[in-house]
Amino acid sequence: MSPVSLKDIEIRVLKGLQGQIKLPMEAKDLATIMGLDYAVLMTAVYELQNQGYATFAEQEVDEYQLTDEGKKYAQTGLPERIIIKYLLSHQLKESPLNELQKKVNLEQNLFFIGIGNLKKMRWIQTSKATGEETIYLSVQEAPQIPLEQLLATMIETGGIFANQLEKMDFSTGDRVRDVDANKIVEVVRKRKIAKQVKYTRRLVNLTEKGKKLDINKVVAKTEVTRLTPDLLQSGEWKNVSLKPFNVAARGPSLFGGKLHPVTLLINKVREVFLSMGFTEIRGPIVESAFYNFDALFQPQDHPAREMHDTFYLDNPKVAKLPPEEYVRAVAQTHETGGSTGSIGWGGKWSEAIARQIILRTHTTATTIRRLSEIGRNKEPLPARVFSIDRVFRNEKVDFKHLAEFTQIEGIVIDKGVTLSDLRGLLTSFFTRMGFSKILTRPGYYPYTEPSLTVAVYSEDHKRWFEMAGSGIFRPEVTEPWGIKDPERVLAWGMGFERLAMLYYEYKDIRDLYRNPLSWLREVPV
Ligand code: PHE
Repeated sequence: MSPVSLKDIEIRVLKGLQGQIKLPMEAKDLATIMGLDYAVLMTAVYELQNQGYATFAEQEVDEYQLTDEGKKYAQTGLPERIIIKYLLSHQLKESPLNELQKKVNLEQNLFFIGIGNLKKMRWIQTSKATGEETIYLSVQEAPQIPLEQLLATMIETGGIFANQLEKMDFSTGDRVRDVDANKIVEVVRKRKIAKQVKYTRRLVNLTEKGKKLDINKVVAKTEVTRLTPDLLQSGEWKNVSLKPFNVAARGPSLFGGKLHPVTLLINKVREVFLSMGFTEIRGPIVESAFYNFDALFQPQDHPAREMHDTFYLDNPKVAKLPPEEYVRAVAQTHETGGSTGSIGWGGKWSEAIARQIILRTHTTATTIRRLSEIGRNKEPLPARVFSIDRVFRNEKVDFKHLAEFTQIEGIVIDKGVTLSDLRGLLTSFFTRMGFSKILTRPGYYPYTEPSLTVAVYSEDHKRWFEMAGSGIFRPEVTEPWGIKDPERVLAWGMGFERLAMLYYEYKDIRDLYRNPLSWLREVPV
């Protein structure tokens, strides 16, 4: 068997441990005794542990430690002991209290504590029958009381563990009240003899192998990280051990410049739609109520138009509208249903309301703009467009709401397209974004019929997340622009930030734009 070889410091610590009479031992005490830095000691202990010579364990300690007062009592005896000892040794069966006080060498307050406790234990009695307060001894002997038993135990070690205390047998003091541990603890606390402390002990011990190892036979080994010409020339290389490389160690993290995760994800979404044959469109952020609401058959008294949902602009104040005939066609769908067979919303449609200027509340305003062009210009079908763009809603900002956010939106215009096409399209989109299961449920939007809400299943969260709204645009939306059955328009829209949060596993939506540096650095791209 080849000789055991250890580093100098390990040999020193092992020797130190073998020299201890009492093990296990607290690491910090060992460090003090050996005059070693704690961290240096611990490194050696870990290494010795790895090699099976030592063990290291952490232990939560709940301990009672003697206070200064407790230590004093432990040395001089409790005041009650001092008094009773005096009485018994002097065969003093009765004595006026103040005389006794002069004879017993105790401070006033301690004397009275002692007298009080002796009375409680019925070792003495007091009476004022003679006019003067007099004490009468009622016992012939005074055995050790539990508190003294405890003090004796504690003075040896300076403390006692709570669980040890619980197990202590105090039954010998049958003449006294305090025979169970709980009561003792109470007394100890009240008399400020000990205090309870909780801490972690770090204990070092030797294993059998460590105890048996003959330190004199251990070869001190020098560890080198590389072979130098000197080592080779001198032949010393034979005596050193090469420190192995830890190939599993992590290298330092380097944070290079990169695109913002929001931009990266937008690009990814963009690529998915482009690869599916879509064209990207953009539209104005400052939009007319006409395109944002009216062209989408949203009634003029619809609650979403209220100030608290929509930002209205003072300047410019009035929007331009498309040529008169189209405005009329939209107005008619609202008032009577126009040529669509619907009865509309009734009432009088107001052009002034449609001319109000707002920050668009959804990018459906942008897709309807594009639809209106396609219809008016009779552009060839199919038409597939998408947009990823900023929208605004007068929301209270919190961890899942922003007043300014991004929507992913799209439409497909073609003859005879159906809900299945819509479902298929959304499934491919979400699959490419990493969600393979989608669920559609009936929904409601003023501009689609039928309407579907779309949820995706997150494997990470093991649950469904509502992600998008979709449907087939109603005739009231498409006919004013000349798009009629069998030409149909599949439409959908969704919040980008929600997708981003699932994609990046992020909890607070605001952080996407607050730009916490640590996240920006670490988020995988
Ligand atoms: N505009 C809807 C929204 O903001 C989404 C939607 C778009 C619904 C197109 C149906 C059709 O939530």
